[in-house]
Amino acid sequence: MGRLQGKTVFITGASSGIGEASARQFADEGCNLILTARRLEKLEQLKSELEKAHPNIYVHAAQLDVRQKKQIDSVISQLPIQVQQVHVLLNNAGMVIGTDPLVEVEEDVIDQMLATNIKGLVLLTQALVPGMKERGVGHVINIGSVAGKQAYGGGSIYCATKFAVDAITKALAIELVETPIRVSQICPGLVNTEFSTIRFRGDKEKADSVYKGLQPLVADDIAELIVFTAGRPAHVNIADMLVFPVNQADSKTVYRRAD
Ligand SMILES: NC(=O)c1ccc[n+]([C@@H]2O[C@H](COP(=O)([O-])OP(=O)(O)OC[C@H]3O[C@@H](n4cnc5c(N)ncnc54)[C@H](OP(=O)(O)O)[C@@H]3O)[C@@H](O)[C@H]2O)c1
Repeated sequence: MGRLQGKTVFITGASSGIGEASARQFADEGCNLILTARRLEKLEQLKSELEKAHPNIYVHAAQLDVRQKKQIDSVISQLPIQVQQVHVLLNNAGMVIGTDPLVEVEEDVIDQMLATNIKGLVLLTQALVPGMKERGVGHVINIGSVAGKQAYGGGSIYCATKFAVDAITKALAIELVETPIRVSQICPGLVNTEFSTIRFRGDKEKADSVYKGLQPLVADDIAELIVFTAGRPAHVNIADMLVFPVNQADSKTVYRRAD
């Protein structure tokens, strides 16, 4: 039996990309799942697929906009008994809109990024860590980014939110150092998901150009590392992981083949 068998994993942003891939891979390990995101129909589809493939796990799907504290409280207070004791919180929901220089970023876009990438992650952590402390077991895994290690032009607010994730991850680890709770961060470079399509407001051609001439990471590459991080022995904490496709060296240094 693997270390993760029977553990309960709460995933934000499970309706696509890294969150969805993580749900599939945690299911392969025999984990019970709480799948959350705004697009409930996608979660319901994933839930029924996973339940069919893994009759021994319990999957709960709940619509959740991480920017809304009331929704967080309501989802957590209505968790079915089978998944009330959360072992792993995967704070994955996140987004970027646009590549505007700082002086041109619209207020609404600033608010959306700050509320999703920082406030949502903090609210979920506040909601679930006290229970982990009481039970003496738990793991918070935050999805940061290379954008949280190195700023780039056209990404000011997104970078600021991911620098915040980096700071929050480190501060939380310090605050929980006397407990058995683990705090980890995984920081990807270029991953081919819906992320870029959302950044370019649905312009698929522009989104695809981000990955042109190189082989980007895919959601499964990051999901593998998330599940690996969660599956270490209880005394081992992977604090921080920076992960690139092989032809990326930092936020903006990327080698692209001419063809
Ligand atoms: N792709 C990359 O190159 C890359 C690189 C570094 C870091 N990351 C980080 O990886 C994480 C996952 O992104 P991804 O690449 O998998 O992109 P994605 O495919 O666009 O997935 C983003 C997920 O976040 C959810 N989400 C967005 N806003 C939300 C909100 N307000 N409330 C709840 N859920 C929300 C989306 O679901 P709904 O729309 O259904 O709510 C979706 O499931 C993000 O934190 C992102 O910053 C991505």
